[in-house]
Amino acid sequence: MDIYRIKGGTKLQGEITVSGAKNAALPIIVASLLANGETVLKNIPALVDVTTMLRVIEYLGAETAFNQEKNELVIRVNALKNAEVPYELVKTMRASIYVMGPLLARIGEADVSLPGGCAIGERPVDIHLAGFESLGAVIDIEHGYIKAKAKKLRGAKFILKNISVGATANIMMAAVLAEGQTIIENCAMEPDIVDLGNFLIAMGARIEGLGTERITITGVRELKPVTYSIMSDRIEAGTFLIAGAITRGEITLNNLVPEHITAIVQTLAEMGFSIETGKNRATIKPTRKLKGTVIRTLPYPGFPTDLQAPLMALMCTIPGISVIIETIFENRFTHVGELRRMGADILVEGNVAVVRGGKKLSSATVMMSDLRAGASLILAALATRGTTEIRRIYHSDRGYENLSQKLSNIGADIIRVRGGKP
Ligand code: UD1
Repeated sequence: MDIYRIKGGTKLQGEITVSGAKNAALPIIVASLLANGETVLKNIPALVDVTTMLRVIEYLGAETAFNQEKNELVIRVNALKNAEVPYELVKTMRASIYVMGPLLARIGEADVSLPGGCAIGERPVDIHLAGFESLGAVIDIEHGYIKAKAKKLRGAKFILKNISVGATANIMMAAVLAEGQTIIENCAMEPDIVDLGNFLIAMGARIEGLGTERITITGVRELKPVTYSIMSDRIEAGTFLIAGAITRGEITLNNLVPEHITAIVQTLAEMGFSIETGKNRATIKPTRKLKGTVIRTLPYPGFPTDLQAPLMALMCTIPGISVIIETIFENRFTHVGELRRMGADILVEGNVAVVRGGKKLSSATVMMSDLRAGASLILAALATRGTTEIRRIYHSDRGYENLSQKLSNIGADIIRVRGGKP
């Protein structure tokens, strides 16, 4: 397995182009199953999660051609030949559950391995399933598989009992071909949901209320394949802003939607960083005296849980107390133990982490436990003099495109050692 070796302590400086959004790309790739013909998706990031999703839709009968240099993906769908997604595919990526919506909509049947818990929490899929049931599907769990059947989905009103990005996306994909009107209340307002909705509208779906708490969908008979460009990745953008902050450097990001990163920009500004945003750009530099802050992770437009671990690394480098309250996932502090190995002073009590910042971090050998925890370790390493070795970097390959290359381009001393250590 590959490892990263990072020699930190250099101020990062330069410009980075933000990639396409993983969390928009995954449901949109799946949504292409809703139409026969050739869908062309642009700005698709070359990520392990994307290739896993391609394996899933190929298994169901799609043909795909992904030009990773051009970030362009062609998906051809004739008929869906399979309703089953086996454990081997779902266990590598929970987002495989997204195929349920399109499968139910198109062939009235889905047989998908039930995802288990994962590193950041229990992550049940009960809201996805309750949503399908409200549209008329009958659901059984047998031998670790979700077996869903529906002769014809019918529109209904469904209130999410807890805001869920995945359930909102899945129910939307099921409802676009259902008979009549579906109203989804207390739904996710994440930009990824809006991007998925805009893709579905381009295909001919009738959807109103995207980006609000209530989405209304009027079912149509069929959808047509289209060419669509995926929005840029706000979590990657946020991670690079933090890379600028943690090295006290100056980084300009382009190809981003400034409105999508308001929560992180506001937090960094509170901590004393200056961020200028333009039309598709943002530049970060340290200006005033830096200080700790308090954040609570929340559904969009609140502070994203996916930037909690990266922000914690930054908090470790800023004198004073910072506090993080994690409200989305119950076990999302697995990076804390590794940051402590680098000298961080962090106290965790339930879903609250208190960071006593400002102590010098020191290099160590550390291990990624999930995608964003991994980003946090890379960031801490960039701020640390000495050489940090990071293992299990396959986690960051899932969600950051060309990460080491992008960081090298702005002055980081990072090398990927092929076949490093387990
Ligand atoms: C998505 C993102 C992930 C991000 C998360 C929260 C993708 C591929 N992943 O994950 O990067 O961290 O949103 O912004 O887009 N829940 C239930 N029952 C359900 C579904 C969810 O109780 O049926 C709970 C979850 O356990 C969690 C909360 O709802 O506590 C939010 O989860 P959800 O928004 O569904 O996250 P994902 O869609 O899995």
